[in-house]
Amino acid sequence: MQAFDYYNPTRIVFGAGRLPEVAHLIPSGSRVLLASGGGSAERNGTLPAIRRALAGFHVTEFSGIEANPDADTLLRAASLCREQSLNFILAVGGGSVADGCKFIAAAACHDGDAWQLVSAQEPLARALPLGVVLTLPATGSESNDGAVISRRASGDKLDFSSPLLFPRFALLDPATTLSLPARQTANGVVDTFVHVLEQYLTYPAGAPVQDRFAEGLLLTLIETGPALLAKPDDLALRGTMMWCATLGLNRLIGVGVPHDWAAHMIGHAVTARLGIDHGRTLGALYPAVLAVQRGGKHDKLLQYGERVWGITGGSADERVGAAIAATGRFFAELGAPAHLADDGMQAADIAPVIAKLAEHGLTRLGERGDLDEARIRRVLEIAL
Ligand code: NZQ
Ligand code: ZN
Repeated sequence: MQAFDYYNPTRIVFGAGRLPEVAHLIPSGSRVLLASGGGSAERNGTLPAIRRALAGFHVTEFSGIEANPDADTLLRAASLCREQSLNFILAVGGGSVADGCKFIAAAACHDGDAWQLVSAQEPLARALPLGVVLTLPATGSESNDGAVISRRASGDKLDFSSPLLFPRFALLDPATTLSLPARQTANGVVDTFVHVLEQYLTYPAGAPVQDRFAEGLLLTLIETGPALLAKPDDLALRGTMMWCATLGLNRLIGVGVPHDWAAHMIGHAVTARLGIDHGRTLGALYPAVLAVQRGGKHDKLLQYGERVWGITGGSADERVGAAIAATGRFFAELGAPAHLADDGMQAADIAPVIAKLAEHGLTRLGERGDLDEARIRRVLEIAL
């Protein structure tokens, strides 16, 4: 196991019916930016409940944060924070709203071009405190230090992170997720599954605790995902999914082990160009990454196949192939498309996607840095 620091200061408040408690989680006297997305939180009653709970606070609302949040939209919210001296940000929504609020929190305290915090990875000196009321379990953003920000004007989608961006709290009320359409529920399962694999399915690192935690999450997702699609009103399943998603990327299972993240980096570039849902890019790209990287991932693929899918028969090569195939079948069972072409990508999009990755220095991907431009092209060709 590699040396590591583990730090996660986010308070987790889990349970149905707990939205009113948000009033006790925000420091009294705060001037709050209440930020949300395109209307789902209004329609499912989450935002009205939060508004009632915040009756004792000064609240300024900002809605319309889009899926794959756009820096230009978020900069308008950051200006509001400055103009009105707002000093706490409450995100109500999915990963896009949570991520967007992290950028707002940083930009509101930054003199100069805030996009540089993302594009040039300028270190953050200060950020406003934020909390998250999560309505879509998927990204783990509610209790991690990262955010993925898009800028449509330049065709970019890039991540940035800072310990200052850990939310102060994540309010996880599974009832807020009952309104999710099947497609977003499935996106969340695929995204979480891939988060776990990006931190687990690399090469053996003498980290049995992390491995068993990861395998436990994967097995839980395999049980919960299809059950949830069959019974979307099941609050217990919704709760299990919510906790899985948080644990998948709160950095715990990723300590002391190598990470991959190739499918994520390629997926972000695909979404930046074509607007395809994050989860759906991964459903097609992750099995393709496994196909191209199966040599380097051989030992871990065998372990994953046996412990997660019960694959014990056949030669080592056959078992590796069976583990990759099982992963693809699971995503298909959830309704994720196996091919990016199903969501509108064309062969002509491959070169510009690779060019974007190259522009940002993202062409030595994977746990060994050996997924170069030629291999990225093969991944995209398989996923197409
Ligand atoms: O905009 P609204 O109206 O709220 O609708 C959203 C949106 O259309 C809807 N939705 C959310 N909660 C709902 C709901 N609809 C009905 N009922 C509810 N309870 O779902 C749609 C998608 O929402 P979004 O927030 O975009 O989805 P997700 O949570 O999957 O977030 C995706 C973003 O997170 C980034 C992705 O790249 C993408 O930009 N990621 C962030 C990470 C992080 N910060 O650690 C890691 C991830 O790997 C990921 O890259
Ligand atoms: Zn993801």
